[in-house]
Amino acid sequence: MDTTLSANDISGLVEADRAHVWHHLIQQKPFETVDPRIMVEGKGMRVWDATGKEFLDAVSGGVWTVNVGYGRESIANAVRDQLVKLNYFAGSAGSIPGSQFAEKLIEKMPGLSRVYYTNSGSEANEKVFKMVRQIAHKRYGGKKHKILYRERDYHGTTITALSAGGQPERNALYGPYTPGFVEVPHCLEYRAQWDVENYGMRAADAIEEVILREGPDTIGALCLEPVTAGGGVVPPPDGYWERVQEICRKYDILLHIDEVVCGMGRTGVWFGYQNYGVKPDFVTMAKGVASGYAAIACVAITEEVFEMFKENPDDPLDYFRDISTFGGCTAGPAAALENVRIIEDEGLLQNTLNMGERMMGNLRALMEKHAVIGDVRGKGLFCGAELVADRATKEPVDEKQAQAVVADCMAQGVIIGVTNRSLPGFNNTLCFSPALISTPDDIDQITDAVDKALSKVFG
Ligand SMILES: Cc1ncc(COP(=O)(O)O)c(C=O)c1O
Repeated sequence: MDTTLSANDISGLVEADRAHVWHHLIQQKPFETVDPRIMVEGKGMRVWDATGKEFLDAVSGGVWTVNVGYGRESIANAVRDQLVKLNYFAGSAGSIPGSQFAEKLIEKMPGLSRVYYTNSGSEANEKVFKMVRQIAHKRYGGKKHKILYRERDYHGTTITALSAGGQPERNALYGPYTPGFVEVPHCLEYRAQWDVENYGMRAADAIEEVILREGPDTIGALCLEPVTAGGGVVPPPDGYWERVQEICRKYDILLHIDEVVCGMGRTGVWFGYQNYGVKPDFVTMAKGVASGYAAIACVAITEEVFEMFKENPDDPLDYFRDISTFGGCTAGPAAALENVRIIEDEGLLQNTLNMGERMMGNLRALMEKHAVIGDVRGKGLFCGAELVADRATKEPVDEKQAQAVVADCMAQGVIIGVTNRSLPGFNNTLCFSPALISTPDDIDQITDAVDKALSKVFG
């Protein structure tokens, strides 16, 4: 790849970045002495930085986003065509790509019928929290307003999304939080909290215990990731979701599934919850919806919930009094429509299942070789390997060692991830979420790099 950047261009970019950009998620101090990395181009599974170094991207843009890979001209063209036709109008009106994408999306989500457009995962989750609160006021005098969330799950970066956040290192120092959010225990069997045979059932029963403690008449909704992402890549144990659904029905609690990571094929089906046969009332999605070609997030909602917001048309406060300015950008649904077409036409769901199996097989083989891998977990192309200092005690490795593995892979030209500022002492799970277009060679190249890095860091 020719980045066409001269040494002068590069140093100008680096200096501008160093002087003015505040990077997400990381400590900035090292950039006083080390050059920030500037990404300049992508094609398929690969990206190039400003120095021209090539990387195989095993994390779809760092945070599970670029599901169909980089450099898709057809998406860029669809966005361009739409922008010159009509770039924006507030969401109080409809748009051509907005109505077409909503129809397409709902085809994939039996049981749901309405799409609310917004522009980030955090914001989509906030919309649901507002709907749940409004329903509590409409139906239950405000009493059924509490929202349950799970330890290890993450639902976004705003203060209220953090209030529903089960990752203490993300939350610390940003309180006080929004009241009315209550935590339920995580369901990661590798870090079991109960010594029982049917772990899935037991972990779900723990949710019921919280409901009974708080009072079922105070709980409006339960918000869960289908497979916990940043909290350690946690696919639920068998039986978990079936029991969760039963509990929600029993206590008249709305089920909100956060598909911001799993949505749009990541686990080999359109939505993560569809692996488990559950029927949600709300589904939020963002990252993979348009693979990062445009900012778009959506809430998909049942007709039953939608109906509640038009019961009293004469009451000026009875409808959903909410707007997301950039939810009216047409680039989002235009990109999302083309993104779905690509997933369908290129058979990417099946490829995700096949390549996910290969990735899990490779990771299991690495586990045979490297005692430091305590557990491998995954669903589709959404995999994790938890690193432990001791397999018997499951003591996590020091997070600096886990980060050293990531850095060594980076030096080899492969970008992998690691859980980051999630649970104190447990930022020890390597994360793999390559694009759904991965080939067997890509998968093998990723796990070969991990093999070498583990040998180097742990001997
Ligand atoms: C499960 C989950 N929900 C919500 C969010 C927040 O999405 P956004 O960063 O688009 O606000 C994230 C972001 O990583 C996420 O992983």
